[in-house]
Amino acid sequence: MGVHVVTGAASGMGLATAKRLRDDGHRVITVDRHEADIVADLSTPHGRAHAAAAVLSAAEGHLDGAVLAAGVGPRPGRDSAETIMSVNYFGVVELTQAWRPALAAAGCAKVVVVGSNSATTMPMVPGRAVRALLRDDLPTAVRAVRIFGSTAPAMAYGASKIAVMRWVRRTAVQPTWAGAGIRLNAIAPGAVDTPLLGEQLATPRQAKAVRTFPVPVGGFGDPAQLAAWIRFMLSNDADFLCGSVIFVDGGSDAYFRADHWPRRVPTTMIPRYLYRLAAFSRAARHQNR
Ligand code: NAI
Repeated sequence: MGVHVVTGAASGMGLATAKRLRDDGHRVITVDRHEADIVADLSTPHGRAHAAAAVLSAAEGHLDGAVLAAGVGPRPGRDSAETIMSVNYFGVVELTQAWRPALAAAGCAKVVVVGSNSATTMPMVPGRAVRALLRDDLPTAVRAVRIFGSTAPAMAYGASKIAVMRWVRRTAVQPTWAGAGIRLNAIAPGAVDTPLLGEQLATPRQAKAVRTFPVPVGGFGDPAQLAAWIRFMLSNDADFLCGSVIFVDGGSDAYFRADHWPRRVPTTMIPRYLYRLAAFSRAARHQNR
């Protein structure tokens, strides 16, 4: 049985996942801003540094799995764009990076980042905010969403989820991750019946948007169902899963993007494609030397 860390473990999908892992006999280290083994505010650099170090110490430098489920939803008038992007992006990236040596020490560790199908179904999210987050430039990301006024938190949420799932895909395939036996993937839930969704349903405008949003199978997901997917992504049966984003959203992503994805390699991408092909064979030759 392994040692796993779960952030956002005091509520919703993080709570359901921690329970599932404990029921399987794993040791689980929980992180949250309350009711957790390690209490930390992931919206601040200090809180993230504390959580990263405290987990490494509790795990004694060996982590078999990490689930990054702490997140803040787009609640108008509650959390600022800065808080949303800090928790949802930096609260994932900085912690996962800090834990990389402990994950590599396990030999076949798995990391699951909880993204969102908002990344592919929410219109108008400014690309500038996404690009800024990917280069760790929070002030520019905040400026890029601020112009949206009352919908800035929603834009911050969408941007944070696009950026974090792109970070997963870029990072997962690197030799220091895939090559170190670490499997880094993301899950993209749709509307799941958790306190986060409950808060949105308590605001009439947001409730209307949530309830009229197309979900082909109908209704909301159950946190335990998502925990079961996460548990599978943490298991050795998922050894060949790397840099994937798994949509578990009742069909919303497929509804909006059936013809958008999968896509053939566009002609304009061919030079970049050939470059990456050559880089990979060079690295493989170097490794076999
Ligand atoms: P939740 O609100 O039930 O749980 C989130 C947890 O994160 C809470 O325990 C909260 O205390 C913790 N958290 C928030 N800010 C924090 C901070 N500054 N420092 C430390 N911990 C903090 O939410 P839920 O629904 O379980 O969300 C989990 C993840 O799933 C989030 O990343 C969310 O964006 C994502 N998600 C949720 C969906 C939904 O419909 N519920 C849909 C798609 C994605």
